[in-house]
Amino acid sequence: MSAPRTITLDNITVYIEANDTDVGKRAADVFCTTLTQAPNAAYGFATGSTPVCLYKELIARYKAGLLDMSGITAFNLDEYYPITKENDQSYDYFMSTELFNHVNVKPENRDIPSGEAPDPEAECLRYEKAIRTQEDFKLQILGIGENGHIGFNEPASTFPAKTNYVELTESTIAANARFFESAADVPKHALTMGVGTIMMAEQVLLIATGPKKSRIVYESLLGSIDPQVSASALQMHRNVTVVLDTDAAHDLLANLDSVS
Ligand code: F6R
Repeated sequence: MSAPRTITLDNITVYIEANDTDVGKRAADVFCTTLTQAPNAAYGFATGSTPVCLYKELIARYKAGLLDMSGITAFNLDEYYPITKENDQSYDYFMSTELFNHVNVKPENRDIPSGEAPDPEAECLRYEKAIRTQEDFKLQILGIGENGHIGFNEPASTFPAKTNYVELTESTIAANARFFESAADVPKHALTMGVGTIMMAEQVLLIATGPKKSRIVYESLLGSIDPQVSASALQMHRNVTVVLDTDAAHDLLANLDSVS
């Protein structure tokens, strides 16, 4: 299959790129187009290995004088619980080292659920309110878990509407153990924007790379809308851009090509 390629599925535009670097560039194009139109809006960021290619590209564009993030308010999808900000596996630490230390988002305009909050439920309420009081929640960046989670919205019987305190599934703990010394060190809980919180963003930018994401990308975009696969809710969102590498696009393309 040749890349790049663009596919339109109703409300979802899918870009397929040859490799991680090109995925980062395409995702940065999408992000920067919106940022130029709405330089003072709220933006939601994601952690994990997938968006690193995007963050590298944003840092490069900032250093080249092509990007100004000084007007934005930055939220993040989720955080482990409990975890200290100084822990190098916290998402707060990740965002600082992978993006915020290298661009000009104002520190006072950054918010992330706190893994240090004494009461996780109260922290979820605070965080949800902070997002809902934004006049302009413009764009949310997402990765996707192998089980279809967005944020840490694990397979469930309903789509969580608001920021919530969740128990991580064994599969997520196993998938994230690569960042810790062992699976036993992965926190068992997290605070995460709900699917409903994510759906409030005017635009969603989902990035997926690698063969392990191929099946779930296909199921999320073309399967039934089912809270067992929280990313499938994006089929109901009005403005979704998906950026994939060829490995992550494999099953989607195989199924589209077989019906077209
Ligand atoms: C990260 C997050 C998660 C990840 C997902 C994929 O803030 O909310 O949903 O996006 O687990 O992680 P990676 O990119 O490491 O495969």
